[in-house]
Amino acid sequence: MLATAPPAFVPTDYEWLRLRFEADRRSRARGLLARVQEHVAGRPRIKVLDLGAGAGGNLLFLAPQLPVTDQEWVLVDRDGALLARVAACCAALGGDYPPTVVALDRVPACCAALGGDYPSSAPGHLRVGERAVRYRALVGDFVTDARVFAERWDLVVANAVFDLLPERTVAHFFEGVRSTFAESCPPLYLTIHLDTGLTFDPESPEDEPVRALFHAHMRRPQAFGRALGPQSARALARLAARTGFTVHAEPSPWRLGPDDARMLHAKLDFIENAVTEMLREAGRGALPLAFGIDALARWVAARRAQVERGELRITVGHRDLWLTPHPRALAN
Ligand SMILES: C[S@@+](CC[C@H](N)C(=O)[O-])C[C@H]1O[C@@H](n2cnc3c(N)ncnc32)[C@H](O)[C@@H]1O
Repeated sequence: MLATAPPAFVPTDYEWLRLRFEADRRSRARGLLARVQEHVAGRPRIKVLDLGAGAGGNLLFLAPQLPVTDQEWVLVDRDGALLARVAACCAALGGDYPPTVVALDRVPACCAALGGDYPSSAPGHLRVGERAVRYRALVGDFVTDARVFAERWDLVVANAVFDLLPERTVAHFFEGVRSTFAESCPPLYLTIHLDTGLTFDPESPEDEPVRALFHAHMRRPQAFGRALGPQSARALARLAARTGFTVHAEPSPWRLGPDDARMLHAKLDFIENAVTEMLREAGRGALPLAFGIDALARWVAARRAQVERGELRITVGHRDLWLTPHPRALAN
């Protein structure tokens, strides 16, 4: 007899970013982080560009880890509503994360006006632990927005961003990096990008069709193309090497367990919604299905009951990448 499944927790984009912060934080590959720290050590100040910055999770994690007291960050995202919540998000998450975050001034109201006439905010100031961080938010597309390529950066970072993009867009981004930055190209630190390797513990025979359909959903054709999904980390490494970067890669899997019930429920929601959509699509095409909606419902209910009993563990494969430029290769 299956336990009754608790109501689904479907987070908003903002809630999801807040929720995943802790899993991202503890999953990052420490060896690569040490390389980043080494790269910036000894500088009096640095200028960091955060691609797909969302509500500022990358800043909150990285700013106190970088051994530079004076930091200027530019956060770019096409979702202005998330950028408008950077200070609030950092302050809220800072409560659970060692550095104390103090928003030294209110995020300018113009940031809330989002895009249109106000594509970027006036500078905001945060104190994140010992670090004084000035930041600006740019509402825009980092692949095509000329402002991203008009400035000089000491470091470019992106956390959990490229999985959502198709390969040709990522290739276009690297082409922009090569042609614009050339010999003054900064290194890129790209973290928590999906890799194959979604596993469930304990295992069940239905895991394989669920996994296959979930990944197929990420890779389905959409108006903008096929998102890279679980191929993103490897595609990034390949495209970066082709552009002239030296690629350092390390695994950074999420290992979700009994202490991560909300994350596990949210992950099960994503899986259930995606697999249901794929099964409905397949049903419309009248494909014979060995695995159907009823089997999915049983699988999800059993998994939710395991979460409630503290028995389910999910591993989500990711990789971190540290991409250092070969000036001569990039100049060609
Ligand atoms: C999963 S969220 C990660 C947010 C943040 N980096 C973090 O770690 O909390 C991915 C973000 O990338 C942004 N994004 C994706 N493609 C983008 C693009 N081409 N230009 C600007 N933002 C983009 C989305 O709007 C979203 O906020």
